[in-house]
Amino acid sequence: MDEFESIREEVQNCRKCTLCETRHNVVFGEGNRHAPIMCIGEGPGYYEDMRGRPFVGKSGELLDKIFAACGFSRQTHIFIGNIVKCRPPENRDPKPEEREACIPYLYRQIELINPKIIILLGATALKGLIDPNARITQLRGQWLDWKGKLVMPTYHPSALLRNPGLKRDAWNDFKKVIDKYREIVDPSHYCKYH
Ligand code: URA
Repeated sequence: MDEFESIREEVQNCRKCTLCETRHNVVFGEGNRHAPIMCIGEGPGYYEDMRGRPFVGKSGELLDKIFAACGFSRQTHIFIGNIVKCRPPENRDPKPEEREACIPYLYRQIELINPKIIILLGATALKGLIDPNARITQLRGQWLDWKGKLVMPTYHPSALLRNPGLKRDAWNDFKKVIDKYREIVDPSHYCKYH
């Protein structure tokens, strides 16, 4: 078994925090395991927990529309993961001890996938990977560095659903990702809208 599959197996059997007691399914993440772009959310919600797949509810529908507008697909360009791999009950924010228990799995996934660009979706992803005191409203749209990788924080799709007025900012953030993708991955990347 290769390292990627062994992380998957560890995660499937993980009991490092109490979220394992209420989960229906672990959400390991999915997409191209050699993807040039990794997208990181907060944690599974109801539908993700039921299906064992990331971003399959309403936020996922919006995220897929954004990817399509960028000319990206989950299968080819992206691997989607989360800060925590089990659903926090009632979709509450993951607790610090839950984030700390889970984040080593994400570090290993990032190391193996080795994306060129990391998109952080929302405050929990930003705080979890970059700095617990960072604020999404201040840092979104700016390129950050994480261990030599380019990181673009932007709003979580659920924030865009709650507050459609944020969509314009989020699209500007994704346009920066498209530009960077053309610069460092594929100069001929086609996207109808940018
Ligand atoms: N929200 C997240 O942050 N992650 C998911 O996988 C689904 C919804």
